[in-house]
Amino acid sequence: MEIFRDFNLKPFNTFHVPARTARLARFRNVEELRALLAHPELQGLPRLVLGGGSNVLFTQDWPGVVLLNEITGLELLLETDEAVIIRAGAGMVWHDFVSYTVDQGWGGLENLSLIPGRVGAAPMQNIGAYGVEIKEPFHHLEALRISDGEVVRFDTQACRFGYRESFFKREGKGQYIILSVAFQLNKQPKLHTHYGSIKAELDKRGITAPTIRDVSEAVIAIRRSKLPNPDVLGNAGSFFKNPVVAAEVAERIKAKFPDLSSYPAGEGQVKLAAGWLIERAGWKGFREGNIGVHKDQALVLVHYGGSSGSAIYDLSTRVLESVKEQFGVELEREVNVI
Ligand code: FAD
Ligand code: EPU
Repeated sequence: MEIFRDFNLKPFNTFHVPARTARLARFRNVEELRALLAHPELQGLPRLVLGGGSNVLFTQDWPGVVLLNEITGLELLLETDEAVIIRAGAGMVWHDFVSYTVDQGWGGLENLSLIPGRVGAAPMQNIGAYGVEIKEPFHHLEALRISDGEVVRFDTQACRFGYRESFFKREGKGQYIILSVAFQLNKQPKLHTHYGSIKAELDKRGITAPTIRDVSEAVIAIRRSKLPNPDVLGNAGSFFKNPVVAAEVAERIKAKFPDLSSYPAGEGQVKLAAGWLIERAGWKGFREGNIGVHKDQALVLVHYGGSSGSAIYDLSTRVLESVKEQFGVELEREVNVI
């Protein structure tokens, strides 16, 4: 088992910002992980598990150990005429897993095509896109409890999923390492094509009776047209969450800005499009030195190279403050700031 010292994390985060970690090690199975956790050189050090590094912002060096999750493998746990339950290793690339399920004709994950990162991080913030969140096809996950090394099973309820939230991002933060995630997928899928741009993309392609592959391909095309590719331009997707506010707050803003982009969020609540708020606050396409706000999607902060995580963090604070000042709405960062 190799332990690297004073290692540069630039290749391991999609913002491509430099940050050094005191130690770095990889694990490919639970035994290797347990051995690392017990390793004398790593005792007492803060631990950070990384998948694809596509939802983190390093604002400083990491004084502990970074554990790279490389557990792969797929296992079919159950198959009936209607459905399957399939388990994927937490280190598997998310989109490779989604593509595999689409190839099999199993529905449930197609709207989540092309989200960067690994399977194990998906439950962390209940990843979502184009009208679907993983909490819907999710079946269970297995995680190693760091305090006693036991493997614990979590069902949907135990994960306490919310919008870009879960038990693992809140109460359970830093206490568990997710090893595998299982999903229940349908052989006679119910397609989710209600999200405006999917329907428009399918219409553009002349598809009236879409298959799950059609939906996956439509989502891929939309994502490619809207979001910057992190291999080309550093970013971590949406930097902020879409704020959920009381209906009266949305009404107050709408009275002044009738074109406010918002969606009902249940129980007298409304979700506002943070991209709209940031754009209207004047930030879309903003660039200062080598950091900025993406020109096509104001919710995405970008790094052109040569800058730092703390500079990106400071920009996010300026954006946050200006949205608060202009609309009275408090944005919350979605990205995990380290
Ligand atoms: P990392 O960034 O490596 O880790 C994220 C967090 O999870 C960290 O706190 C880390 O410590 C923790 N973690 C990672 N793996 C484990 C594990 N096995 N056990 C315990 N903790 C763990 N997200 C969406 O929800 N929807 C989108 O549409 C979307 N689009 C994106 C588009 C782009 C271009 C980019 C760059 C990002 C996008 N994201 C989106 C954000 C990101 O892809 C997801 O949050 C993804 O699940 C992160 O996976 P990762 O492996 O890179 O996680
Ligand atoms: N908008 C603007 N200006 C912008 C960007 C967006 O006005 O610069 C408005 C538009 O009116 C648009 C609305 O915001 O109709 C919504 O935009 P979009 O469909 O692009 O989605 P989003 O709300 O900006 C969310 C997720 C994305 C996910 C997409 C698609 C969050 C924080 N973000 O973005 O997730 O891919 O929906 O479902 O919920 C991520 O989490 O990293 C991520 C990329």
